[in-house]
Amino acid sequence: MIRDTLDCADCQLRPLHPSDADAIARACTDPLIAHWTQVPHPYRLSDAQEFIRTRAGEDHVWVIDAGGLAGVIGVRNTREAMPGPLTEVGYWVAPWARGRGLATAALIAVRDELAQAGYQRIGWEALAGNEASVRVAQKAGFRIEGHRRQSLVQRGRLVDAVVGGWTAEQDVPELVAGQWQLQPVTASEVPPDLRPAVSSAIAAWVARTAVGGYDRGYVVATRSSAGVHVLGEDAPGEAVAAARRYLQAQGQAVTGEPLPPEWL
Ligand SMILES: CC(C)(COP(=O)(O)OP(=O)(O)OC[C@H]1O[C@@H](n2cnc3c(N)ncnc32)[C@H](O)[C@@H]1OP(=O)(O)O)[C@@H](O)C(=O)NCCC(=O)NCCS
Repeated sequence: MIRDTLDCADCQLRPLHPSDADAIARACTDPLIAHWTQVPHPYRLSDAQEFIRTRAGEDHVWVIDAGGLAGVIGVRNTREAMPGPLTEVGYWVAPWARGRGLATAALIAVRDELAQAGYQRIGWEALAGNEASVRVAQKAGFRIEGHRRQSLVQRGRLVDAVVGGWTAEQDVPELVAGQWQLQPVTASEVPPDLRPAVSSAIAAWVARTAVGGYDRGYVVATRSSAGVHVLGEDAPGEAVAAARRYLQAQGQAVTGEPLPPEWL
């Protein structure tokens, strides 16, 4: 479950309220917000009232409140039954509250909230050239993944985007379990039928004999709202147990519950 109110450093994230309309309208007349986001332009009080009523397609929206409205942060694709990998985040901070770390603090709070709710990827994108937003994303642990040409329509013109995201996936180490060696694998390295499962996993290994090196199945760790499921695909029980111990030592909430069938 995603909470309506979140604490963050020097601010609180709280639901939108009709009385926020004035401050939102004042912030959104700022030329930087008009330049870097897709809010209506020119921005009127009625646009703010409409945004508060409809959330403009966002599934969850929080006001960044630091003794008054300082900004807004919202996420999409979080209404699905299962925490999926396709959430997207967007934010702005009012001109009077910038440069105090509020966007970064808010993004970290939302990131942690989505992660604990089981989401595995938070997508992020900005118009190419939005260095302040890139900096915020990087400070919150998002990785910049590339530059997509002419992929956004901004005020009627096709413009380039810089894209990135945060994933729950960890740097996965090699593990040894008795005669088995577990070597990290990516989706492109596994048989086609396993690729969807591995691409949404937080960790995946191939189990090989430590001597001789022939493959003996795969171990895949996937997060759902019940916790982290560690599954062996034709892998020896000893290898699955070693992966489970490793993830528990990393503080992951490993669960014995079966993975919901639609997940694989
Ligand atoms: C981007 C934005 C949300 C940042 O809000 P903020 O609360 O000032 O952000 P923070 O204080 O957490 O961090 C801002 C960082 O960007 C840096 N920065 C600010 N302007 C910059 C610029 N023009 N070029 C490069 N870096 C810049 C700051 O120095 C700071 O980094 P630092 O901590 O390493 O010094 C705010 O400027 C904004 O609302 N801009 C217009 C709307 C927008 O771009 N929204 C994002 C759409 S993807």
